[in-house]
This record gives sequence, C-alpha cells and structure tokens, in this order.
Amino acid sequence: MRIAVYPGSFDPVTKGHIDIIERSAKIADKLYVAVFINNEKKPLFTMEERKQLLRRVLGHLDNVEIVAFEGLLVNFVKQVNADVIIKGLRDSKDFEYEFQMAHANRIMYDGAETLFMPSSPGVQYLSSSIVREIARYNGNLDGLVPECIQKDIYDKIGG
Ligand code: COA
Repeated sequence: MRIAVYPGSFDPVTKGHIDIIERSAKIADKLYVAVFINNEKKPLFTMEERKQLLRRVLGHLDNVEIVAFEGLLVNFVKQVNADVIIKGLRDSKDFEYEFQMAHANRIMYDGAETLFMPSSPGVQYLSSSIVREIARYNGNLDGLVPECIQKDIYDKIGG
C-alpha cells in the first residue's frame, strides 16, 4: 500500500492545491493532506478552520484524510509510515526552495522519497496570499478557490 503525504499551510486551500491533491490521490492508495504550522507565516485561519475548509472541498476523494500536525514533517511521515512526500512545483523558485527542503528532510529521515508534481496550467500562479489579497478587496475568487468556501474567506477577511 502506497501512503503519501501532501503537506502545506493551506491558509486557505486553493484550486492550485486541489489540482495537486486530486492528481496525487490517483497514484497513492492513501493520501494524507497534512496541515502544518509554517513558523515563517502568521496564519489568517486557525488550524481547525483550515481543516474544515479542506474537508469541504475534498469530500469527493475517498482515499484522502485531512490531519493537522505540529512539528517536523518527517516526524509525521514516520508516524503514518508514509512512502512518499508530495510537493507541488509551480515554477523554478518553488524548485530552489523545495529542493533544499527535500534534501534536509532526507538527511533527517531517508525512509520516504519526495516527489515533485508540476502544477497544471491555469493554477500555476496561484498562492494562498494572492487569494487573501483579492478577497480583502472583495475581488472575484472564482478561478482561485471553489465556490463552496468563498464566503468563509470573505467573512474571515472582512472580520
Ligand atoms: N498551487 C497553489 N499554491 C501553492 C501550491 C500549488 N500547487 N504549492 C504551494 N502553494 C502556495 C502555498 O499556498 C503558499 O502560499 P502562501 O505563501 O501565500 O501561503 C506558498 O505557495 C508556499 O507553499 P509551500 O512552500 O508549500 O509552503 P507552505 O507554507 O504551504 O508549507 C510546509 C510549508 C508546512 C510544508 C513546511 O514549512 C513544513 O514542512 N513545515 C513543517 C516543519 C518542517 O519539517 N520544516 C522543514 C525542515 S527542513
């Protein structure tokens, strides 16, 4: 059984993440979408809220489980006995950063491989901060996040 982990901060989940998750769910028997704290960032949504939004947009994927984890990614990977860490790559900047992370993770734990999946055209320039910025000015989120979570984002940003 191939177990994969797709980690991120998902603050909030975007169509770019969903693209990677749907494609990864086809090649893994079980996929953990793991919500992490990125210490470099101050989140808009709480951990629980991020999990709820993910649950709503990923309900159609039977082999996907959404979990929250604090600490190192490799500790989670070991805990669930995962074979693969999936990382989405949008451009060469992602590659530079992700290559370094993959290397560090491998030094800490070599029981899982990092696999890079290129983003699909159309969602390549998306990020959670772009979504938050557009929502702040009440812009149209249709191309960026599924309709079923748009109100949550506007409400949260509007206070
Ligand atoms: N489509 C759309 N957006 C994407 C994307 C995709 N395929 N892939 C990434 N992004 C966005 C993210 O939403 C994020 O946007 P933001 O900066 O506006 O929030 C940005 O691109 C960066 O993504 P990523 O590099 O995946 O960062 P992240 O904050 O989402 O996740 C962790 C980083 C949580 C995976 C990483 O910090 C981690 O592993 N933390 C645990 C501690 C640890 O083990 N550290 C590593 C030690 S070497």
